[in-house]
Amino acid sequence: MLEVQQLSHSFPSGTESTQVLSGIDFRVERGEMVALLGSSGSGKSTLLNLMAGLMKPTEGSILIAGRSIDKMSENELAVFRRTHIGFIFQAYELIPHLTVRENVELPLVFQGLRSKVRREKAIELLTRVGLAGKTEMFPSQLSGGQQQRVSIARSLITEPAVVFADEPTGNLDTKTEAEIIDLLIELNENSGITFVIVTHEHEVAKRTKRIIQLRDGYLVEGGAAEALADVTAAEAEPLTEVRP
Ligand SMILES: Nc1ncnc2c1ncn2[C@@H]1O[C@H](COP(=O)(O)OP(=O)(O)OP(=O)(O)O)[C@@H](O)[C@H]1O
Ligand SMILES: [Mg+2]
Repeated sequence: MLEVQQLSHSFPSGTESTQVLSGIDFRVERGEMVALLGSSGSGKSTLLNLMAGLMKPTEGSILIAGRSIDKMSENELAVFRRTHIGFIFQAYELIPHLTVRENVELPLVFQGLRSKVRREKAIELLTRVGLAGKTEMFPSQLSGGQQQRVSIARSLITEPAVVFADEPTGNLDTKTEAEIIDLLIELNENSGITFVIVTHEHEVAKRTKRIIQLRDGYLVEGGAAEALADVTAAEAEPLTEVRP
């Protein structure tokens, strides 16, 4: 479904270049939900942007639905992204002068779908994410959690093969965060949507079935146990308190 092969990436810095990712290798099957963890600066966003075709890797390849996106021309890639890849941003990235429904419809406009069909699909998805009553409002009239729901609906409207999310709950309070995670898990379990979610938040990682972790540009794979040990060490601390 998604296959990352020997992926390396470096950014130019002055006359040198800084290696951010080295020899990353992993695959994600259809219907999986994967949390991508790692400390700040470990390369999570870079890896996600490469997988979503937002930039090209220095080395290696990325296959989505059997196609190497790194070998596509800019035009091919633009079309492929619109039809096969969904993206959820930390800061929602909604268009302020479009209504909630129009924001969700937007990816379909490029596909030349009739407006009635677009509208129906958008309303169906907005209902799915719990925003049936807000379709004609503008993003600024919604709470952060509601705006993120709109952005989730928008990421799903083209029925993409995979949805990438970069810290989708990073701007939200704990309660809203939990609600958004519930929604993502529900969409994964009931609609089989494949997610790769970058997160700092252990709350998110604890609830996904699989964790991969970046350390110094390398991937700690099968890392579920090890990563979870890191995750739960912090959580477990209060339990060690001795009762009087
Ligand atoms: N466009 C760029 N040009 C040069 N260096 C970059 C660029 N984007 C990222 N980097 C560098 O690559 C490294 C990884 O950055 P990245 O944004 O992928 O980290 P991250 O794991 O997402 O961090 P955070 O958790 O803080 O979001 C950092 O050292 C960063 O400075
Ligand atoms: Mg990042």
